[in-house]
Amino acid sequence: MNELLTTEQIEDFRNRAEQLEHPKELVIDLLRAVQARNGWVPDEGVALIASLLGVAAVEVEEVATFYDKIFRLPVGKKVIHICDSICCWSRGGEELAAALQQKLGIGFGETTEDGLFTLLPTCCLGACGEAPAIMVGLKTYGHLTPDQLDEVLATEREEAR
Ligand code: FES
Repeated sequence: MNELLTTEQIEDFRNRAEQLEHPKELVIDLLRAVQARNGWVPDEGVALIASLLGVAAVEVEEVATFYDKIFRLPVGKKVIHICDSICCWSRGGEELAAALQQKLGIGFGETTEDGLFTLLPTCCLGACGEAPAIMVGLKTYGHLTPDQLDEVLATEREEAR
């Protein structure tokens, strides 16, 4: 495995933590930094963060598992979050979810064989006005129909190369 954080990052976070009354404020920043380098946050990442901040590993874990954009298991190169909330349901979200699973050949929580896409259901993406919506990485696609999925997936595949 790569280093979970660079020496510079560790030094920087250590300095920042020393200046805070509640170093736990840095848990999210650290989780994101570890995930940015590794693609997900392994147990060793949780332990490293806990030791840097002087908190119990469980305190890091409870933050990591609260947010669905922090991954505690390996994921594909791109994570597709499909909205699983009411506005999207009412505008074709279930058909969209079924089509997405069929086109990718995977179910929720799974990763395509080529390691490119992981598909996860998620609570409202905050794009209700564009329902039904999905998010691939940090990009949101709204007003989606099953017919448009091929183009979206082709674009994302191209960008991943
Ligand atoms: Fe789907 Fe809000 S309900 S984006």
